[in-house]
Amino acid sequence: MPGVEPRHLFFPKILKSDEASHFFGRESAFGQALDHLGNDEAAVAIYGERGIGKSSFAWQLASILDDSNSVFKRSKLQRVGREKRYECIFPSPANKPKSISSVIANILSEKTSEYSLHARYGQRFQDWGLYDSIQKRYGVSLHDIGFKNVGDDLLFTIFKEILHEIKNANPRSSLVVFIDEADEIDNTDGLGQLMKRIDVANFVVVGIGDTVGDIIQDHASAGRKLIGGLVELEGLNSNQIGEIFDHASERSNRRITFTSEYLARAKTVCAGFPWFAQNLGYQSVLSVVRNHDPGEDFTARLGRAEFRLALDAVRGVYQQSLEKRIDFTELEVAGPREIIRVLAKARKPLTDTEISKELIRSERRIPMAKIDNFLYRLVHDASLLTKVAGKSGDSEDRFRFRDPIARTFALEIVDQHSGEESSDKSFS
Ligand SMILES: Nc1ncnc2c1ncn2[C@@H]1O[C@H](COP(=O)(O)OP(=O)(O)OP(=O)(O)O)[C@@H](O)[C@H]1O
Ligand SMILES: [Mg+2]
Repeated sequence: MPGVEPRHLFFPKILKSDEASHFFGRESAFGQALDHLGNDEAAVAIYGERGIGKSSFAWQLASILDDSNSVFKRSKLQRVGREKRYECIFPSPANKPKSISSVIANILSEKTSEYSLHARYGQRFQDWGLYDSIQKRYGVSLHDIGFKNVGDDLLFTIFKEILHEIKNANPRSSLVVFIDEADEIDNTDGLGQLMKRIDVANFVVVGIGDTVGDIIQDHASAGRKLIGGLVELEGLNSNQIGEIFDHASERSNRRITFTSEYLARAKTVCAGFPWFAQNLGYQSVLSVVRNHDPGEDFTARLGRAEFRLALDAVRGVYQQSLEKRIDFTELEVAGPREIIRVLAKARKPLTDTEISKELIRSERRIPMAKIDNFLYRLVHDASLLTKVAGKSGDSEDRFRFRDPIARTFALEIVDQHSGEESSDKSFS
């Protein structure tokens, strides 16, 4: 019997087209996006918090449209315009694009994604002599247009021409262009215009945001196309989080199972974030597998102890990735999170001075004067803490973080404050 392989049970990366079996929930969001894209003129915006599952959703959507996906059947989804055929272009996102032009340059020259323009149409472009003709007429190569400064007008001209060529070759299918990580684009002014003006393709724009305005500055310009196409992704419910763990048990042929205590804790701490569930599960299995020889036949029932270990490991991984990505001068985002991290790590409630010391020790350059107010309120205002922890019923009132972990840290603080005993109860 083969050994248990953590990567086969949990999937701590974007779930692309052939990873559909790890994907759960989102039925109504698919329904909405598919219905809307069934219209001839449609644009879709997918937004939500960091790590909530936007890219995975977008990838599953692309492969559903491409007719190569099992989620569609498994979730018994319906689709308007069944007879319609789609072709999707989904490049790997560009690195910190400055403007819409940089995004287009990336779409034109990106090659690593399985749905990149070149991967999908490269052979046909050759056959049509398109590579040569672009080179001849415009003096640039489609292969490296992303690295050349060719000017916005030319870029748009070539982009439109390419889309027209694809469309002309397949007049009956609908072209859908995906743009992921739109929140990383310095200036998204013009994206709405682009969505409106390009009529041979529909766009699906994806990014971190509370509203569509966070990822498409001039979204109003897209007008009717976007109406009905706003898909806000919320957390998964706890049954769906549970399905992630059930699925893993099944894939291990039930050699790995989870106690109900583990599952209850996992559901609480994941707070709806699939990112957390996949990583927690992955780390748990990893810690078990480490204690066995490769190929050894064993079964393991994961409980409280494994949960604890994995939770710490996930936080370690998360901190590392944060340190790479976050600009700590961005106070609104990073400041509160860092404070919450310090508070949550502490084994007992800290005073303001102790928190300040901790923050200085952790070498975050957060201007102390600016955080004072937040800090004061956080420590002294229990209702703020509840909002931060996402436990407030009134969603208007909820303090929103761009990343999920801040919330789970905060949940722990709430637990600490409510005492050891109730802390245990709150998990079950
Ligand atoms: N519906 C789902 N079911 C199960 N796991 C999921 C689901 N959606 C996402 N995941 C998992 O959650 C994690 C984060 O997913 P993803 O990268 O798609 O999120 P994101 O919102 O695009 O993140 P970011 O804000 O960093 O771009 C991945 O580990 C992925 O495997
Ligand atoms: Mg993403």
